[in-house]
Parts: sequence; structure tokens; C-alpha cells
Amino acid sequence: MTWIDLGNPSPKLETDRYTPYEWDNSKKCIILDDPNAFIPIPFTEVMFKRKSQRYFKTTSIEHLSYLLWLTNRVKDQVDSTMGFPLTLRPVPSAGAIHPIHILLNSPNMDTWWRYDPFSHSLKSITKEHVFFHTVRESCQDILNCNTASIMLLVAEPQKTLSKYSDGASLVWRDAGVLLGNLALAATYLDINFCPLGALFPKKINDGKQLVTVGMSVIDAINIECN
Ligand SMILES: Cc1cc2nc3c(=O)[nH]c(=O)nc-3n(C[C@H](O)[C@H](O)[C@H](O)COP(=O)(O)O)c2cc1C
Repeated sequence: MTWIDLGNPSPKLETDRYTPYEWDNSKKCIILDDPNAFIPIPFTEVMFKRKSQRYFKTTSIEHLSYLLWLTNRVKDQVDSTMGFPLTLRPVPSAGAIHPIHILLNSPNMDTWWRYDPFSHSLKSITKEHVFFHTVRESCQDILNCNTASIMLLVAEPQKTLSKYSDGASLVWRDAGVLLGNLALAATYLDINFCPLGALFPKKINDGKQLVTVGMSVIDAINIECN
């Protein structure tokens, strides 16, 4: 067995400064509506019902909005000396750093979208787009996702590493926490959801500032964009 020891994370005595990855925000943007009411369903019912689903229907963008709002939106933020704010979201993250971005592509749409958890909106991926061309094809080899949306968890590990020595495992654990909570929230919202173990694309930008740390296939989100 090859077990890669990622070390024992510990907070640095002095944190490093990190300049977050700059996405191009000038292109298409879809503002998602804040949910105004939720149908109460017992937590236990959601826990009992959660199951990986491998058949996918089409669902509305409101469902995606609710899924992202329930798991990833920024509820509160505080300044830090690390070069980016710490954020409080529904799901925990080591050091409140939240190094993971959620990206999504719907079937028959070329565009990849990034969730902006500060403004609860979707922003189209532009300059990185070329790296995502083959993701859908690669997923198709694992699971029939012709009629599904694909979700990627893309991390900026250096955010976490600016606070922690040997912090790589924290990024992976953040990805697991997020994936698990997405699966539960998807169950609550009646969105079919299946985690994937594969990690695509292999490369997003030169220098590995962005790396894929998780994937899932979910109901096809009907994204209409003018
Ligand atoms: C990290 C992770 C990776 C997974 N990768 C795949 C995958 O590549 N293909 C797949 O069909 N299911 C995948 N699954 C789903 C598991 O197969 C599933 O959780 C397991 O069979 C238990 O079934 P349940 O989720 O319905 O309880 C993955 C689950 C996790 C947590």
C-alpha cells in the first residue's frame, strides 16, 4: 500500500500573505434569488433518505440557488492579515478559510459557472475555460452524465497553507465536508446527487494555484442565460 502522509497540520506562528486567484468577473453573471421560505422537513428524514443517485432529471435554477445558499453562501466575514477575508458559511472550514470554489456545467451548455458565495450569483468562467473542455467527456466514462450537471470543487490550497504548516490534508478534509453537506442539502431539495472520486481537469492554470479536490454529478440545472 502507498499511503501518502500529508503531515500534521499546525498553525504558523506568523501567517503568510496570499493574493487570491483573480477570476475574470467581467462576463456573464446570473444573480440568484435568496430563498424566502423553506419547507420544513425533519432532519432525521433527510438523513435517512440520503442516497447516491445515478439517474438525473432536469431541475430549476432555484433548486441550485437553494443548494448553494444552504451550503456555501457567505453569512459573515471578517478581515484578516492574510490577504483575504475569513468567512462564515453554513459548512465548516479549517480556520474559516474556505479555500474551495464550486464550479458547475449543465448539459448542452458550453459555459462553466463559478458560484460567488459573497453575492450569491453565478459567474461565467472565461480565461480558464479551455481547461474544462474535456471534463464532461471524462465524466461520461465513469457515469452517464449526458442529462446531468457536473459540479467541481476547485481549491486554492495556498489560502489554507498561508495559515497552516503541512495544511494540505485540511484542504482535502474541507472538500469532504463540503461534498457531504452538498449531498445532504441536495437530498432535502430532492436533487439527485452522486459524488465522484475522479478529479478533473488535471490542470486548471499554470502553477497549480487552482486544483480540483472534488466532483459530483447532479440533476441538470436549467440555466437560461441571455
Ligand atoms: C469521495 C467519494 C467518491 C465517490 N465516487 C464515486 C464514483 O466515482 N462513482 C459512483 O458511482 N459513486 C461514487 N461515490 C458514491 C459511493 O459509491 C456511494 O456513496 C456508496 O456506494 C454508498 O452508497 P450511498 O451513497 O447511496 O449510501 C463516491 C462517494 C464518495 C464519498
